[in-house]
Amino acid sequence: MVLSCVAKPSSAMKNDRNKPFALPHLGRLLLYMLPFPLVLLFFSLGLVLGMTSGANFQNLYFPFVAPSPSAKPSSPPPTLWPPGGALHTMTDEELFRWASMAPKLDGTPYHRVPKVAFMFLVRGDLPLRPLWEKFFEGHHGLYSIYVHTNPSHTGSYPMDSVFYGRTIPSQRTTWGGVTLVEAERRLLANALLDLSNERFALLSESCIPIYNFSTVYAVLTGSKTSFVESIVSTARYRPLFALRNNISEAQWRKGSQWFEVDRALAGEAVADVSYFPTFRENCAGERFCVVDEHYMSTLVSVLGWGSRNANRTLTFADWDPKRRVGAHPRNHRGEEVTEELIERIRKGGGAPGRNCSFDDGANGVCFLFARKFAPDTLQPLLRLAPKAMGFG
Ligand SMILES: *[C@@H]1O[C@H](CO)[C@@H](O)[C@H](O)[C@H]1NC(C)=O
Ligand SMILES: *[C@@H]1O[C@H](CO)[C@@H](O)[C@H](O)[C@H]1NC(C)=O
Ligand SMILES: *[C@@H]1O[C@H](CO)[C@@H](O)[C@H](O)[C@H]1NC(C)=O
Ligand SMILES: *[C@@H]1O[C@H](CO)[C@@H](O)[C@H](O)[C@H]1NC(C)=O
Repeated sequence: MVLSCVAKPSSAMKNDRNKPFALPHLGRLLLYMLPFPLVLLFFSLGLVLGMTSGANFQNLYFPFVAPSPSAKPSSPPPTLWPPGGALHTMTDEELFRWASMAPKLDGTPYHRVPKVAFMFLVRGDLPLRPLWEKFFEGHHGLYSIYVHTNPSHTGSYPMDSVFYGRTIPSQRTTWGGVTLVEAERRLLANALLDLSNERFALLSESCIPIYNFSTVYAVLTGSKTSFVESIVSTARYRPLFALRNNISEAQWRKGSQWFEVDRALAGEAVADVSYFPTFRENCAGERFCVVDEHYMSTLVSVLGWGSRNANRTLTFADWDPKRRVGAHPRNHRGEEVTEELIERIRKGGGAPGRNCSFDDGANGVCFLFARKFAPDTLQPLLRLAPKAMGFG
């Protein structure tokens, strides 16, 4: 029975004030009136009954079970996985099974503070980590971090880092390959296991925040839409996609790999056993597919996600033909990092003075994050962060 898999006392349980061990009113009364051995007997009896029938107890282990109306929500909310670390020994198959069972919707009956999951999909180190450390400083409890890196990467983070112990079991990825999407889904699956995570942002080692944490948090948790760039384009579509799951040419989309999604869409991506296999079969080992720029964008389209997706990303990249290099957006170097650059990106990233005309769930914000920033941008970024980005 599945219960045994999660029936590990978690820290949530230790903190739970509604635990069945608390003496009820009657119990306290008896304590004063009856001789001790009798009290002990009553107490043990109560404990056993509480354990076998207690609704609280059951909810703690089984977050999927709707609590009986009388049951008070437990606080902090239970996790499907001990919150201590991201390392576990589940296979992908087990992980996805668990994650697909996790509630997809916000507003489960638990009083909880929503968290934003920052999911770093990296190839090795995180050269801009000191900037991110400053960004997260003082906001403990409002975010979770997950890192997917090359499994051969041996570096680790210092114990006092917010990144310490946050690397999930990872697999090798290749540029434009299906393995990249697998890594994204693996990150989402891990993050879904923490029921407090309500927003899921995918980031790379070259991403930076361009606002402080409070702003990023407020925009993401306050928005009703997901942010997956989804552009109508038939480029790279092949009739093969229609064969198995009817992904028609009209439904085909492209867009940036870097997304910010809500719990519902994260759940769909992890539970997707219809469309993802089609991509995997048609694209395995084929760089031509550039699956990472089509999977999520097309998924929101075939799912009919409609206005629940803003169809754009909150992660800026400079694709200006004069500044990009081939199929890659501009990689900013240390000497280019100025307050003006950050200001320009905040305003939409185009020519200086251009307005950001987006009027969607992001409350007028064009971008929250930006890429690509080379490792040598770290020092200039740290210097200008307090003034240009509002933290540090
Ligand atoms: C974050 O930035 C906003 C403006 O973007 C500012 O109003 C707010 O005070 C900043 N928060 C902190 C904690 O510095
Ligand atoms: C694909 O669409 C056609 C017609 O629209 C329908 O007959 C068929 O059952 C669909 N196949 C799948 C796998 O959904
Ligand atoms: C995003 O695009 C879809 C069509 O693919 C559309 O139905 C939806 O309304 C768009 N979302 C917004 C917020 O405009
Ligand atoms: C930007 O928007 C403001 C107010 O909406 C407008 O007055 C201004 O002319 C716009 N600037 C540009 C360059 O479009």
